Amino acid sequence: MDASLLSPVTRRVELAPGLVTLRFHNPHVARTTKAGQFVNVLPKAGFLDPMLRRPFSVYWTEGDEAEIIVQAHGRGTGILAGTHVGDMLDVLGPLGKPWMVNSEDYSTAVLLIGGVGVASMPLLTRALEREEIPIQTFYGARTGSLIAKEHLQNLHFATDDGSQGFHGSNVSLVRAALEKNKLNSPKLFTCGPTAMLRAAQSLAAEFGIPCEISLETEMACGIGICQGCPVRNEESVFQATGRRYRLVCTDGPSFRSEEVVI
Ligand SMILES: Cc1cc2nc3c(=O)[nH]c(=O)nc-3n(C[C@H](O)[C@H](O)[C@H](O)COP(=O)(O)OP(=O)(O)OC[C@H]3O[C@@H](n4cnc5c(N)ncnc54)[C@H](O)[C@@H]3O)c2cc1C
Ligand code: FES
Repeated sequence: MDASLLSPVTRRVELAPGLVTLRFHNPHVARTTKAGQFVNVLPKAGFLDPMLRRPFSVYWTEGDEAEIIVQAHGRGTGILAGTHVGDMLDVLGPLGKPWMVNSEDYSTAVLLIGGVGVASMPLLTRALEREEIPIQTFYGARTGSLIAKEHLQNLHFATDDGSQGFHGSNVSLVRAALEKNKLNSPKLFTCGPTAMLRAAQSLAAEFGIPCEISLETEMACGIGICQGCPVRNEESVFQATGRRYRLVCTDGPSFRSEEVVI
């Protein structure tokens, strides 16, 4: 069951300007979240300001504490990134569906990360480790200082400015590995900017491999009420289900890549 709870911030780490991890005490979120689920957090500057919550993947859990990683982007994330230890976060969750880890259609998990899309990957890594599924992680970022590599495994970096790892796109790195048959029966798990998700979608189709994409669509309620987070279904899904759209908050945030139009 979802729960909203005022959760004291117990740790704040600034990884880079505008990129922080916030750890908070919330036994329900910490003990029930599955990899890929998110929380909807209310930034607070004043009464009803802002009005809407912002969604964040659960980045890590330990005991009664959970952690999110926040990239200051617009107003709400800017307010949250400025939160201090001892402040109260208003947290609703866990929400959404988890990553589909337990499928029999792959032997190697290939994590394809773009920027703050890293947020759902530490818990995914932990879930895959528990299932003893080999992992290769291809992490792309604008620059090396924006990389958050805690709790990840077998990392290959790509940066836009060449400051860490390959100078270019992480999708090119995965393509090269696929072309050289270096990934045994892979499945792509990917989260990041839309351009990267589209490239991953094409790559998966070209090589005929399963791919799951996690969408970071803007949301309001996060619980399926406002209809504010639609993703268009591929024609085959529409024909099978009669549904033209699904909701990212309750049907996702992750989807099989061949099932949605992004
Ligand atoms: C599942 C999920 C997980 C995410 N995880 C992370 C994460 O771990 N770390 C991170 O930094 N970012 C994450 N994001 C992205 C983050 O939530 C966005 O950056 C954020 O919502 C934008 O908020 P802002 O305060 O920066 O921008 P602002 O410009 O202040 O606000 C944008 C807000 O306006 C409202 N809005 C705009 N358009 C619509 C619409 N069509 N319908 C309804 N409401 C609308 C929403 O409240 C939206 O959040 C995630 C997004 C999703 C969907
Ligand atoms: S955010 Fe309201 S229905 Fe998805």
